[in-house]
Amino acid sequence: MEIIVNQVPEEKRKVKPTDESKLGFGKVFTDHMFTMRYRSDKGWYDPVLGPYSPLSLDPTAQCLHYGQEIFEGMKAYRGENGSIYLFRPAENAKRMNVSARRLCMAELDESFFVEAVKQLVLIDRDWIPRTKGASLYIRPAMIATEAALGVHPANEFLFFVIVGPVGAYYPEGFNPTKIYVSEDYVRSAPGGTGDCKAGGNYAASLYAMQLAGEMGYTQVLWLDAVERRFVEEVGTSNIFFLIGDELVTPPLGGTILPGVTRNSVLELTRSWGMNVVERRIDINEVTEAATNGSLKEVFASGTAAVVSPVGHIYYKGKEYAINDGKTGPLAEKLFNEILDLQYGLSPDPFGWRVKIA
Ligand code: COI
Repeated sequence: MEIIVNQVPEEKRKVKPTDESKLGFGKVFTDHMFTMRYRSDKGWYDPVLGPYSPLSLDPTAQCLHYGQEIFEGMKAYRGENGSIYLFRPAENAKRMNVSARRLCMAELDESFFVEAVKQLVLIDRDWIPRTKGASLYIRPAMIATEAALGVHPANEFLFFVIVGPVGAYYPEGFNPTKIYVSEDYVRSAPGGTGDCKAGGNYAASLYAMQLAGEMGYTQVLWLDAVERRFVEEVGTSNIFFLIGDELVTPPLGGTILPGVTRNSVLELTRSWGMNVVERRIDINEVTEAATNGSLKEVFASGTAAVVSPVGHIYYKGKEYAINDGKTGPLAEKLFNEILDLQYGLSPDPFGWRVKIA
C-alpha cells in the first residue's frame, strides 16, 4: 500500500518549543499524523500522512462505549551528524498485534506499521529534540469506529500515529520516585488483558493512582489479583529489584505488560554477567530485604520512563527507603547505557537500533 502524503504548508506549521528542558511528557504534538482505516469487507485502506487534526467520530463509535482501544509507545532519537534512530520498533509492531488479537481488532502488517512510523518521524524530523534524554515520543493507537451500540467485536477501525517531543516522563526527572503498594485495588487478573496495551487497563488503574497521589506517591505498585502478595508492575512501567547480588523482576505470566525496555534491561544485565532472575516476588520479601539492608536498588523500566529509580515504597502503613532514597549505581548505569544505545553513541551488539536517517 502506498502512503498518500498531504504535507502541511510551511506557513501553517506550528511553533516548536524552544526550551527542551521544559518539555515534560505528552503535551506538545507535531504538524502531521498518520491515519489508516479498516473495514472487515475491505481490509486496511486509505493510509494517509496528513495534518495533525481532531478526529471525527459517530457518537456511537464502539471505542467510546466499550473501550475497544489499543496503543503502543515508542520513541525516535536524534544521534550525531543528523542521524535518527528508532529502538526495536518491530517489537512494538508485534505487541500491537498481540493486543489487537486479544481485543478482537484488525491486525496490521508489522513492516507496514514500522514504515508508517518511520515516514511520520521523517516528515516531522525537525521536531526531534537535540538534547540527550529528550526524544520524539511516538504513539500508535487503534480505535473501534463502527457506529453501533450492541456489544460485539467491531468491523471498522481507525489506526493512527501521533508524535511529539518529550523530556522525562515523571516530574522527578531521573530522580527517585516514591511508589505506593495498593492493597485494595488490582490492575489485572489472570485471564484478563493485563499483558495487552489496552486503554482500559490504564482507565482501571486511575483510581488507585489518584489515592497514591493524594498521599504523595508518584505511582502505584500493583500486586497480583489472586493472593494480593506478588509484585506485578508499576503503573506505566515494569519493575526490578536488586536484592543482594540478584536482579529480580516478575515473570511474564499474562497479567503484566511485556515491556520492550524490560526485555532490554534483562538482555543487557545478562550480557554483563549479572545474576538475573525472572521469578515471582512476594511484597513481604521486598519489605524484609528493605529492612535487613539486602534490598540495594529498585527501579522501573519503560519506553516513556526509560529506567526510573524508586527511592521509597509505601506498604501497609509503612514507608521503606531504598538506598537512602537515592539513585543507585545499577539504575544509573542502565539508564546511561540504554540512552547511549538509543542515541547511537555506543556499539549496538544486539542490533536494537534502526537507523532511519
Ligand atoms: C510507554 O512507556 O511508552 C507507555 O506507553 C507508558 C505510558 C506513558 C502509558
